Amino acid sequence: MRNRSISLVFITLILWAIVTYFLIFYKSNKNKSKYKFGLQMNKLENEINELISINAQLLQEFNIQHIQSYNKYENATYKVNSLHNKNYSLKTREFMKVYDENKRKSIVRSDFHNTTDVSQPDQSDIDVPPIEKKFKGYFKIARHYGWALNEIFFKFAYETAIVIEDDLDIAPDFFEYFLGTHFLLTADPSLWCISAWNDNGKSDLVDLKSPHLLYRTDFFPGLGWMLTRNLWQELSPKWPKSYWDDWIREPEQRKNRSCIRPELSRTRTFGKFGVSNGLFYEKHLQFIKLNQQLVPFTKMNLTYLLKEYYDHAFVNEVYKSEVVAHTDLKANKITPLGSIRLPYYTRQTYKTVAKIFGLMDDFKSGVPRTGYRGIVTFFYGGRRAYLTPTSSWSGYDKSWN
Ligand SMILES: *[C@@H]1O[C@H](CO)[C@@H](O)[C@H](O)[C@H]1NC(C)=O
Ligand SMILES: *[C@@H]1O[C@H](CO)[C@@H](O)[C@H](O)[C@H]1NC(C)=O
Ligand SMILES: *[C@@H]1O[C@H](CO)[C@@H](O)[C@H](O)[C@H]1NC(C)=O
Ligand SMILES: *[C@@H]1O[C@H](CO)[C@@H](O)[C@H](O)[C@H]1NC(C)=O
Ligand SMILES: *[C@@H]1O[C@H](CO)[C@@H](O)[C@H](O)[C@H]1NC(C)=O
Repeated sequence: MRNRSISLVFITLILWAIVTYFLIFYKSNKNKSKYKFGLQMNKLENEINELISINAQLLQEFNIQHIQSYNKYENATYKVNSLHNKNYSLKTREFMKVYDENKRKSIVRSDFHNTTDVSQPDQSDIDVPPIEKKFKGYFKIARHYGWALNEIFFKFAYETAIVIEDDLDIAPDFFEYFLGTHFLLTADPSLWCISAWNDNGKSDLVDLKSPHLLYRTDFFPGLGWMLTRNLWQELSPKWPKSYWDDWIREPEQRKNRSCIRPELSRTRTFGKFGVSNGLFYEKHLQFIKLNQQLVPFTKMNLTYLLKEYYDHAFVNEVYKSEVVAHTDLKANKITPLGSIRLPYYTRQTYKTVAKIFGLMDDFKSGVPRTGYRGIVTFFYGGRRAYLTPTSSWSGYDKSWN
């Protein structure tokens, strides 16, 4: 299931698996709406591996901090910026180096006004089938996600949560992005998440001049994402024991639903030493461009992202683009301006072309990263490019992996 080279990194490095939760609470009464922001920082699962420390696996602690502040909706931007100005990213980096629980709490408190700390009560070791022993980290992560989301949605009764692993830097408009797109999640049942992440968000594959640009995607990106309690009510009874991110991408869970993702990522991982990120980080993640501008999403009309508007306009725009040979695009031999299209008809052509341009070439449950209706959008040599299946596309083929 998992790539062996990735598991190798897992067993030779000190592991960090910390997840941070920012929460948005949405409550509406007659003519007033209030947002409650919060931050739920959770566990530090710190394992030191057998190769490093004489067969010892130290599961240090699970620690959750939950930080929240009240403010009126119309003042959200102010609060969001004031949170950012305190340099959250820097603090989480510090946080990673601190083992003392109280010190950790105070680091986070210095960034946020109102903090609630919640600790994972289950510090026990976890049962893993012998054959998957080296993937134990994934089992712990899934257990922790399940527990933490139960707390957030069922105990604290939040309507909406933003999940962030704490090895992520966030963009200046991170909260603004989630606030601005929040209404889409409730208005459009064909959406099930908002994500801050573009899997193909490297500098040379995005339009750096379009930080406002957002897309729909059938590929669940994670890495800074927002979900609602309704979704959690649906997923929690069957939450898996491990590999939750691949599980959530299966058709049985996804049910044809999509996420919103930005052209320019609003998160960037510095987690070279995460449970799964070692080689993947070296090869790919470290090149993802983090947006640095403030886009006023809450003041923009984002209705175009609703399925009823988006699909028709997007598919039209894509399939009217001129078809070109990928070799010409690569060699910069295209004269007409405007968007272009690179058709693919097989799994192998997709992979070949994706590799040539430095796009992620993998599929999960048949869906290519960032794909929407099979279409993968990127920016190359100053123009918009679409990798497209046939225009009569009728669904993903799960055997494409
Ligand atoms: C927003 O918050 C700031 C700082 O607390 C305050 O000075 C300002 O009046 C608020 N604006 C609105 C519209 O509530
Ligand atoms: C936050 O800290 C980082 C790392 O030191 C620094 O590069 C960045 O400029 C800081 N950002 C703000 C808004 O202070
Ligand atoms: C902190 O959050 C709690 C829970 O939402 C709330 O009851 C309390 O009034 C808040 N305190 C401050 C100082 O904002
Ligand atoms: C998803 O969409 C495909 C193609 O449009 C359809 O055949 C399938 O039944 C849908 N699956 C679910 C679970 O809605
Ligand atoms: C917002 O965008 C939608 C879809 O593009 C459009 O139909 C609507 O008129 C726009 N609303 C405003 C206030 O501009």
